[in-house]
Amino acid sequence: MNNKYSTNKIYIQQLILVLILAMGCSSSTDANEDTDELGFVGLKTLADHPVGVAIQARHLDSSQRTDLITGVFDRISAEYEMKPVPIWTGPDSYNWAASDALVDFAGSNGMTVHGHTLAWHQTTPSWLAGFSGDDTAFEAVVEDYISTVMQRYAGRVVSWDVVNEAFADASGQLRNSIYRQRMGDDYIAKLFEMARTADPNALLFYNDYGTIWDANKRNAMFAMIDDLQARGVPIDGVGLQMHITYDFPTMDAIIATMDAIAERGLLVHISELDVRINALGDLTAFTRERGELQAERIRDVVAAYNQLPAEQQFGITMWGLADSDSWLINFWGNPEWPLLFNDRFNPKLAYEGFVEALEAAQ
Ligand code: G3I
Repeated sequence: MNNKYSTNKIYIQQLILVLILAMGCSSSTDANEDTDELGFVGLKTLADHPVGVAIQARHLDSSQRTDLITGVFDRISAEYEMKPVPIWTGPDSYNWAASDALVDFAGSNGMTVHGHTLAWHQTTPSWLAGFSGDDTAFEAVVEDYISTVMQRYAGRVVSWDVVNEAFADASGQLRNSIYRQRMGDDYIAKLFEMARTADPNALLFYNDYGTIWDANKRNAMFAMIDDLQARGVPIDGVGLQMHITYDFPTMDAIIATMDAIAERGLLVHISELDVRINALGDLTAFTRERGELQAERIRDVVAAYNQLPAEQQFGITMWGLADSDSWLINFWGNPEWPLLFNDRFNPKLAYEGFVEALEAAQ
């Protein structure tokens, strides 16, 4: 692609972004309508490392969404449709419709895809949980799945959460997932080896939540990582999901955990960022005051991430595009507004906080 074409393409993309966001921005006094003079530069044109967003295939039907996604971000994660349940319908049967749509959308818009996830106790196909073959056959069928999925998307899905959430809350014990039951306590190492063999060019991540503030879980994760590295098991990075609130956990704890990953020579992926502002349920509507606290939090997190050594920065992924998309909307029983864009796809102060942190890092 020659420079002139790419420059024009970026210009057109930015023009589209400005027009879309300008159309969306009303003169409403809604506290969400708070960034009328926002510089619509798109996070991807400011960030030295990819900024991603988790989406679903159904989101691709809305051009307002897709123009915003392609104008603001440079990477996508599949919020659901690249997990085993939606794809792996039987030992030798797959449903590629949604995952192909997402990967094709990313490819045709110059975006990469982070694969989420190859193995997670919460999205184990029921037929796999009841697999009647012996443990050797179980391991073979899992290896076949990993190689089939990774080879299908090799070069376009540039990284994978190989294992998601292997440790239990509070105890830090290895969860008794079907993978552990059938492949043994060393299943994590086996899965990372399978993934490396399947696509030697893909970056391989362990992904979890709570590993910043839950001491037992944090210690268990780092003990596992140290063991994998000591044995030469391939692992390239760690995903800190970062489902946080505007005031928990402390920035010191966040920074210490990111540093502990970087010190091991591993990539840091803030993999599922959202910032709750109503954890105590004291709000029935979004307020500017809480929006400003959310923006400050986003700014602090992005600024802290940008302090990492460049070679340890894998990227930041928002876990959803607009507030109304968030898994948090009904999860805790309180109204929530955890993302960068409001439910009319207008940028919030949180988006401005992200932009400010990126500009400050330049
Ligand atoms: O799309 C199907 C629909 O076709 C079907 O009719 C319906 C029947 O239940 O399910 C729909 O899929 C739902 C999917 O989200 C898409 O909306 C699943 O039921 C539902 O379980 C799934 O929830 C996702 C959840 O992971 C479980 O996979 C959430 O969107 C997603 O935000 C959440 O994300 C997780 C990360 O993967 C791991 N870290 C924690 C994070 C939050 O739980």
